[in-house]
Amino acid sequence: MKIKKLFLQNFRNYEQESFDFSDGFNVLFGKNGQGKTNCAEAVFYLCTGASLRIRHDKQLIRIGADSARIVAEAENRYGRVTIEADIYENKREIRVNGSKIRKNADLMGHINSVFFSPGELRLIQDGPDERRRFMNLSISQTSPAYYTALLRYNKILDQRNTLLKNRDVELVLDTLPVWDEQLCQYAAVIVKKRLEFVEKLAPFAKEYHAFLTDGKEELVIKPDRIYEGDEGTIAQKLKVRLENNYEKDLRLGFTTVGPHRDDLNVTIGGMEAKSYASQGQMRTAALALKLSEVQIFKALSGEYPILVLDDVMSELDLPRRKKLLKCIADLQTILTCTHAERVLYGSECKKIRIENGKIKG
Ligand SMILES: Nc1ncnc2c1ncn2[C@@H]1O[C@H](COP(=O)(O)OP(=O)(O)O)[C@@H](O)[C@H]1O
Ligand SMILES: [Mg+2]
Repeated sequence: MKIKKLFLQNFRNYEQESFDFSDGFNVLFGKNGQGKTNCAEAVFYLCTGASLRIRHDKQLIRIGADSARIVAEAENRYGRVTIEADIYENKREIRVNGSKIRKNADLMGHINSVFFSPGELRLIQDGPDERRRFMNLSISQTSPAYYTALLRYNKILDQRNTLLKNRDVELVLDTLPVWDEQLCQYAAVIVKKRLEFVEKLAPFAKEYHAFLTDGKEELVIKPDRIYEGDEGTIAQKLKVRLENNYEKDLRLGFTTVGPHRDDLNVTIGGMEAKSYASQGQMRTAALALKLSEVQIFKALSGEYPILVLDDVMSELDLPRRKKLLKCIADLQTILTCTHAERVLYGSECKKIRIENGKIKG
């Protein structure tokens, strides 16, 4: 999968600009606050229909403009694909090869990207939310069924949580089983797909981690909760767990069990990473996870995703940087940094200098 061109109009600090990307290494460089991350964000938006940093699309529109437009021309193994997004204050329209898509699930998978930022490098030390987000985003891009189940699950979960705050306990207890029936069906889809994902991810992560640490430490990744059986069995068992927690959920006013609470267990050299590993070790483990994500995309979709590295080089020490460059040599990469020469060590690349929302030179 390659992105060939990107056009931005009234997007963030870009008035109008076109990028031509090479199939290999592309380096966006320039001082802080010039629009490097904004460009990376536009690529991410066309891949996932979501922004990196915000919930409301409105902030993507250049201040003073009425709408923003992003267009990408890309190539996947089926041929050329053009994705256009027009973002207005209260709505948006996305087209894939000229046809308007009805729902975000129809956007996923046309262009896949793996996105690394300093935030992703904190994947291990951050809270479980971040690790769930990592799984959700990654699996959604290759499985529309997962994405749809996740949206429905979250919607019912919201309704269930609202219900739990109702003081009419009798009504709540009458209504809960109805919500839970559906909740558990979607939960089972989520749990099963996550399990498959982690099973595929773990061996890659172990291997990458061994490479990054010269085989000094072993990285082991597991789901923190094991669900056994097929989807039907998982749904049934979860329903029982939900029932067993009615009282607690009512007391706390939210749903305390289910995939929205599950996490990944990460150990380095046999010790729980979050409690025992150093910052540097955790960053290396996060890097191994993200590199594994690239391989999973390849395994599931038959082609490599586009790699977007936003400002990560500055967070890694020299040996890690060099190793990272080795691992990604075959991928189309868009990398942002402040000083191009400090991260490349003579690698072949296309350099694009960004200044105040414009390409310079
Ligand atoms: N909606 C917007 N309209 C105009 N400018 C914006 C908008 N959103 C962000 N910016 C500007 O974009 C700049 C940040 O760009 P960014 O891509 O994060 O910089 P960097 O090059 O450091 O990665 C800031 O100057 C910010 O004010
Ligand atoms: Mg930036």
